[in-house]
Amino acid sequence: MKGIVLAGGSGTRLHPITQAVSKQLLPVYDKPMIYYPLSVLLLAGIREILIISTPDDLPNFRQLLGDGSQFGLRLSYAEQAQPNGLAEAFVIGAEFIADDNVALVLGDNIFYGQGFSRVLQGQVATLDGCVLFGYQVKDPSRYGVGEMAKDGRLISIEEKPAAPRSDRAITGLYLYDNNVIDIARGLTPSPRGELEITDVNLAYLREGRASLVDLGRGFAWLDTGTHDSLLEAGQFVQVLEHRQGVRIACLEEIALRMGYITAQECYELGRRLARSPYGEYVMAVAEAAGAGQD
Ligand code: G1P
Repeated sequence: MKGIVLAGGSGTRLHPITQAVSKQLLPVYDKPMIYYPLSVLLLAGIREILIISTPDDLPNFRQLLGDGSQFGLRLSYAEQAQPNGLAEAFVIGAEFIADDNVALVLGDNIFYGQGFSRVLQGQVATLDGCVLFGYQVKDPSRYGVGEMAKDGRLISIEEKPAAPRSDRAITGLYLYDNNVIDIARGLTPSPRGELEITDVNLAYLREGRASLVDLGRGFAWLDTGTHDSLLEAGQFVQVLEHRQGVRIACLEEIALRMGYITAQECYELGRRLARSPYGEYVMAVAEAAGAGQD
């Protein structure tokens, strides 16, 4: 399976912070926001990843992440010239996806929870059609909303409904089979002028090939769309990292644990960042995994 991180948009709700910097490069405590969605793809076992952003912002993502080989990944980059909607990712990325399945994750979505990697890898391995991930929220009208029947079947999907049929938000992580390219190409823009991801999901639902995995209340799906939620996400990460002494969405550590890089390679990555506590952490993780200090 291939992966796409969509990191476009103009971030108007976070102005003036995002007037000169892409939203997905803003710090969430100790690392750039895009590390969090990228880590989700790594944990799913996905190593070929396309990062889509605006023409202005793309060079900065490239500077941050390069070709991904340092993490044992293959990263490529593509422009979304206009904010034409999330579903345009599959039109832009058609050549990259080729005849594979694809996971899309939105560059501002943060997921955290025990066993997530296992859930993801299970869903990737058994994918048939499309898999969405649901999360209970207090304010479902702000999101895509999924309604499930008693037997767990997904029965309706609505984008930002005024009167939501359930409290299950559809998160910004989506798994699709290769049909998604044709479905996206066949969409027409919504009244707000965008190719809507919800229309892609509805196409699968109509074919009876859409399912929703509920992430459960022991899980955290965090928003970064407002000044408050961005700060709260950072504080959430800070609290967990301080308490446990581990780091969330540390790409170097995940690459090591997934077997994408060796302990020695991980150590070298840490050494390049050694003047920050993040770099010291990466070095410590690598040493615990057997890296020497030469
Ligand atoms: C988008 C989707 C929505 C989804 C949300 C998740 O909304 O349209 O269905 O629930 O992402 O973050 P947006 O953030 O573009 O308003």
